[in-house]
Amino acid sequence: MKLLTLISLLPFITPAVLGCGDEGHDHSHEKRAFPPTTLTPPTRALDWGDINIIHTTDSHGWLLGHQKTSFPEPNYSGDLGDFASFVSHMKQIAAEKDVDLLLVDSGDLHDGTGLSDGFPPGGVDAHEFLAKLPYDVMAIGNHELYIYANTLDMHQNFAPQLKGRYLSSNVNITVADKHGKPQSVPVGSRFAKFRTRKGRKVTSLGVLFDFTGNDKNTTVQKVADMVKEKWFLEAIKEEPDFFLLAGHMPVQRDDWPLVFKAVRKVHPTTPIIILGGHTHIRDCVQLDGRSMSLESGRYMETVGWMSMKLDERRGSKKNITFSRRYLDPNRVTYEFHTRTRNSTFDTFLGGSITRGLLQLAKRFDLNFKFGTAPQDYTIDRVPYPSNNSLLSLFAAEAMPTALSINNTRANIPNIMITNSGSQRFDVYSGPFTKNDQLTASPFADAFLYIPNIPAKTAKQVLPALNNAGAENRKRSVEEALKKREREAYELGYVDMVYRKWLEEMDRRDGVERRAARNLTLGYVTKDSCPGVGDDTLHAPLPFFDIPDFIGSNTPNVTDDTPIDLVFVDFIQDQLLEILNGVQTAKNFTTKDVQSYSPFLASAVLGLFAQKAWN
Ligand SMILES: *[C@@H]1O[C@H](CO)[C@@H](O)[C@H](O)[C@H]1NC(C)=O
Ligand SMILES: *[C@@H]1O[C@H](CO)[C@@H](O)[C@H](O)[C@H]1NC(C)=O
Ligand SMILES: *[C@@H]1O[C@H](CO)[C@@H](O)[C@H](O)[C@H]1NC(C)=O
Ligand SMILES: *[C@@H]1O[C@H](CO)[C@@H](O)[C@H](O)[C@H]1NC(C)=O
Ligand SMILES: *[C@@H]1O[C@H](CO)[C@@H](O)[C@H](O)[C@H]1NC(C)=O
Ligand SMILES: *[C@@H]1O[C@H](CO)[C@@H](O)[C@H](O)[C@H]1NC(C)=O
Ligand SMILES: *[C@@H]1O[C@H](CO)[C@@H](O)[C@H](O)[C@H]1NC(C)=O
Ligand SMILES: *[C@@H]1O[C@H](CO)[C@@H](O)[C@H](O)[C@H]1NC(C)=O
Ligand SMILES: *[C@@H]1O[C@H](CO)[C@@H](O)[C@H](O)[C@H]1NC(C)=O
Ligand SMILES: *[C@@H]1O[C@H](CO)[C@@H](O)[C@H](O)[C@H]1NC(C)=O
Ligand SMILES: [Zn+2]
Ligand SMILES: [Zn+2]
Repeated sequence: MKLLTLISLLPFITPAVLGCGDEGHDHSHEKRAFPPTTLTPPTRALDWGDINIIHTTDSHGWLLGHQKTSFPEPNYSGDLGDFASFVSHMKQIAAEKDVDLLLVDSGDLHDGTGLSDGFPPGGVDAHEFLAKLPYDVMAIGNHELYIYANTLDMHQNFAPQLKGRYLSSNVNITVADKHGKPQSVPVGSRFAKFRTRKGRKVTSLGVLFDFTGNDKNTTVQKVADMVKEKWFLEAIKEEPDFFLLAGHMPVQRDDWPLVFKAVRKVHPTTPIIILGGHTHIRDCVQLDGRSMSLESGRYMETVGWMSMKLDERRGSKKNITFSRRYLDPNRVTYEFHTRTRNSTFDTFLGGSITRGLLQLAKRFDLNFKFGTAPQDYTIDRVPYPSNNSLLSLFAAEAMPTALSINNTRANIPNIMITNSGSQRFDVYSGPFTKNDQLTASPFADAFLYIPNIPAKTAKQVLPALNNAGAENRKRSVEEALKKREREAYELGYVDMVYRKWLEEMDRRDGVERRAARNLTLGYVTKDSCPGVGDDTLHAPLPFFDIPDFIGSNTPNVTDDTPIDLVFVDFIQDQLLEILNGVQTAKNFTTKDVQSYSPFLASAVLGLFAQKAWN
């Protein structure tokens, strides 16, 4: 307790405003020792217990943290090196308190930034650096399974570094055995049993939701089947001091209850800690009074904290005291909770990880600058269409500009259509680099077109596409869309869940909280666990609905002018169906479709920035 008092007595770390003063060079990926903006620390110390857990999930390559200066990005400016320093200090505090501190990750290391997506062919992405941290348990995510080569890398190179603690309870990979015969084996380990520093016995799993979008030669077993397996029943038979169930499943849906119940059937009162992920939200629920389930957001925008006080008396059946907290990962947060200052915070390991990541960014040429974005362009914080909408920028300006480059059809009027899901992340004012391009718009879709569509017809296609989407959504109450949504979900799409979460926090009291002006922007979490979860209180960002499809401005031509109808290959089937619905003069098929441009959708923002932002 002495220590807690000490922490709360420490003066607030004065925020530093760091100007580099040297404008001549490109900073975009340089290590900033301190966020260049005023950050205030959290307001209260963490609640420590006997078992304490630091949790990450869905990091998706954001290992250099969020380095833009537009809010709320600086809140998430801590990089993996900073995080490693944080973990080291926290381990030391745990040792002083003589309690256990575990580090757990719930998967999805791949896909998200230049560090995870930008490696040259044959290369390996930056998730290697995560293995340098003292993770006790890591679970596999669906993003480790879209491409066989990634899964193989996890199996051959990554899992061995975790020494039996990279868990894939229901996920296998097929590899050639000694005799060249195909053989299905777990990607990592099915379970792990170990003792904590304090000697407590832990039984651990790493479970993936019923994912169906996995690549050939990888296998995902349904959770309902896994809990019937002999190995599973064997693994949970012996009673540990607590179960640590990590896995890539959200805590409020999916199949955690199946795993929970299977364990409870054998051990009615043994403490169970569940650490989930996948839907990218902050969430917490207690399946009973001796268990807590935590999900810790996405993209290194959240570091989760959970603590548990063990029973004073063995054999107790009373409710256990848990706590949970969602930390904004930045140096101010980290220093606050570890009683350090800028000058004492960095550890050798932390520094070396940051340097290694910066070198990798250099090797991948992620700092290559296309131009300078004059302002922020966001996906769902502003209405569509509007001047600050990334979707408007992409559809109305970037696509038309980029696709007119080296294109013999550039002079023929056109309408260009793509799906709003083609944009993954906001673009912020300042340097627009290769890393930003990979982060914002990674999908390598080709552009196709159908020539000679009367302008009158072409104009109807985009609204009809969006109406069809809306119709489907209306029916969603009924079976039709539920099925579609479930299929999409099984294939790994989680944006609808994440966006619904954002919408809810804005609808709840967004206007009031923002108007009060005493809170900064960020996540506002309302989960099912007692007390307030967010470590730093925020006002939510505004949220606006977006259409499923977006398009360029309609050209100012007469209705009968023949124009080019341009679209990405990803939406070809839907577009042909709609086109054949809005007119009956001709039955359009794939035979009428031609290639429009050599450039892929993933190159559009860069080409545009080179022209318009220089
Ligand atoms: C988060 O960002 C806000 C600005 O929106 C800042 O004032 C606040 O101090 C930040 N929080 C932390 C913990 O750094
Ligand atoms: C799966 O892997 C085995 C063994 O490496 C290989 O022989 C087989 O062709 C692969 N199957 C597919 C569908 O890629
Ligand atoms: C996974 O691999 C193990 C070990 O080879 C095998 O016994 C099991 O049947 C495999 N599971 C699936 C679902 O393929
Ligand atoms: C124990 O926890 C459960 C689940 O959170 C709750 O429903 C119950 O009321 C608690 N019991 C006591 C005695 O606090
Ligand atoms: C923080 O510490 C680093 C060295 O680790 C130093 O380079 C930097 O100037 C310091 N920043 C502030 C604001 O004190
Ligand atoms: C949006 O941009 C257009 C073109 O630059 C300009 O004419 C218009 O005034 C802007 N609208 C707003 C609301 O800023
Ligand atoms: C356009 O074509 C010219 C001449 O072939 C070529 O030099 C240039 O690189 C092309 N532009 C782009 C953006 O590829
Ligand atoms: C912010 O202001 C509102 C309204 O004035 C007040 O109710 C609330 O307690 C304040 N919150 C903080 C954290 O100061
Ligand atoms: C559209 O074109 C017509 C005829 O060329 C012209 O009179 C009109 O001003 C144009 N409208 C816009 C919005 O550019
Ligand atoms: C349109 O063409 C497609 C593909 O050839 C065909 O399956 C479909 O039946 C045709 N529809 C009509 C109305 O002719
Ligand atoms: Zn994810
Ligand atoms: Zn996932």
